[in-house]
Amino acid sequence: MTSPSTTAVLFQNVTRHFGTVRAVDGVDLKIEQGEFFAMLGPSGSGKTTCLRLIAGFEQPTAGHIEIFNETAEGLAPNRRDVNTVFQDYALFPHMTVLDNVAYGLMVRGVSRPDRERRAREALSLVRLEGMDARRPAQLSGGQRQRVALARALVNRPKVLLLDEPLGALDLKLREDMQEELRRLHKQLGLTFVFVTHDQGEALSMADRVAVFNQGRIVQVGTPEDIYQRPTTRFVAEFVGSSNVLTPDEAPRFGGVSHWTSLRPEAILIGSAAEAMDIRQPAEVVDQQFQGAMRKTLLKINGREVWSLAPAAQALEAGRTVTVGWAQGALHAMKGEGAHV
Ligand SMILES: Nc1ncnc2c1ncn2[C@@H]1O[C@H](COP(=O)(O)OP(=O)(O)OP(=O)(O)O)[C@@H](O)[C@H]1O
Ligand SMILES: [Mg+2]
Repeated sequence: MTSPSTTAVLFQNVTRHFGTVRAVDGVDLKIEQGEFFAMLGPSGSGKTTCLRLIAGFEQPTAGHIEIFNETAEGLAPNRRDVNTVFQDYALFPHMTVLDNVAYGLMVRGVSRPDRERRAREALSLVRLEGMDARRPAQLSGGQRQRVALARALVNRPKVLLLDEPLGALDLKLREDMQEELRRLHKQLGLTFVFVTHDQGEALSMADRVAVFNQGRIVQVGTPEDIYQRPTTRFVAEFVGSSNVLTPDEAPRFGGVSHWTSLRPEAILIGSAAEAMDIRQPAEVVDQQFQGAMRKTLLKINGREVWSLAPAAQALEAGRTVTVGWAQGALHAMKGEGAHV
């Protein structure tokens, strides 16, 4: 990469209060052009409000927002180079698929032949050729989702905002659409801001992830950063399941006296543990067969921890085994607190 990166979205200490509710509370954010950026966090943590601030449906109570280096405060939604795919799709039920997709172009005064050509192009991007004349009620959930996506893409925004776009789909369709969105992102080179409360989805799809809690961003980083190097206990527990050890417990597991994360997959059992830096005896408390793995509850040093054993490693409860992990698997974090 030779040219310096361009910032698509900038938040400086942005706050949005609703009465006494601090929906967004002092957020700093920088999303680069072309990034696939995920906003991940529990319900009510401020993700949708952040998207609405970018789209212009909300104004900040305090702070500053820029979109492609242009001040966004006071700029109407239709003056921003941004489009949104809403969770409920918000399609017009009485209009055909083609008219739904072409609607935004019609409002902008684009001629009928032009807008129909562009709407057909957008429909082919999402692989919905031949469905032009149907109405939303005659489509499956996944197809409706694609229409909503085509409608947001038709006027080629520079930033596409996606608010839990796959939330209504069943698992298989959801996985197909995840692939589809990644393909579209690569193909179009747009900036995607993708809201989800599904950590697996955020980790597998995004270039970078911002983890939200109570109106604040508690960590931003690559999926590997967020998963392997959580800075706080909240992130360790929210992003994947982790064994969080207290400052008292950590030294007995070979760590230092800090809040420490030890991922279940890092704890090896039996002969696999022999090559590890740290080895301990453990008691098997319970095992759950999960297809590819066996989720295994162990008692180590009087503390129950989860481990992931291969499916072939069936262990009966009450048995004593040797367990082990690498020194590097112990990850020290900041302490407890309301926002961490
Ligand atoms: N218009 C509003 N008036 C009052 N409170 C609001 C309004 N919009 C959002 N809130 C509150 O702000 C907080 C953040 O809401 P937001 O919709 O941004 O959360 P979210 O992270 O998108 O949650 P979810 O995952 O459930 O969609 C919540 O406590 C919510 O109740
Ligand atoms: Mg939301």
